[in-house]
Amino acid sequence: SLDLAFAAIGGYLLGSIPFGLVLTRLAGLGDIRQIGSGNIGATNVLRTGRKGLALATLLLDGGKGAIAVGLAWALLGGGNAPLVAGFAAVLGHNFPVWLKFKGGKGVATTFGTLIAAAWPVGLAACLTWLVVAFLFRISSLSALVALAASPVYAWFLAGPQAAVMAAGLAVLGFVRHHTNIVRLLKGEEPRIGAKK
Ligand code: G3P
Repeated sequence: SLDLAFAAIGGYLLGSIPFGLVLTRLAGLGDIRQIGSGNIGATNVLRTGRKGLALATLLLDGGKGAIAVGLAWALLGGGNAPLVAGFAAVLGHNFPVWLKFKGGKGVATTFGTLIAAAWPVGLAACLTWLVVAFLFRISSLSALVALAASPVYAWFLAGPQAAVMAAGLAVLGFVRHHTNIVRLLKGEEPRIGAKK
């Protein structure tokens, strides 16, 4: 319906704001896509050595997912609109028209979306990320484990609809992490905070 089209377009546009790129540019650090992994997300912003900027990137990239879900909820009501908006926000982050569709990996935006759509699921996913990060200190590994676990959390904590959405986000996340997966398998993935 028209509602779902609005949710998709609005979510995509919100998600497509590349906060990591904007903040590092405003801070005079040049183009984040030329640094470290080349990704526009908080993990790579941290490789500039600017912890505050990395935290701001994490919160803003997460926040845009949450706001997409919340706005769809408020303007279009319940039903599928919030889930569509959240999924579209992650698509917007990963494939922003402004960056010739070369965006990020969608981890923070996925977490924000999950928190807003079903907070116990988002919380469980974030805690999973933190536990794996504490144990292994590898951002991508933490993301992959949290993404893989989130449909299971969603199934038990929120129901089948949320599980389908979390599974879709997980598949998307794994696809976007293919170079990370190759590095992980070779034992070459850098630790969190290490400059690469
Ligand atoms: O959030 C993205 C993270 O999982 C990996 O980022 O820069 O190490 O490829 P990066």
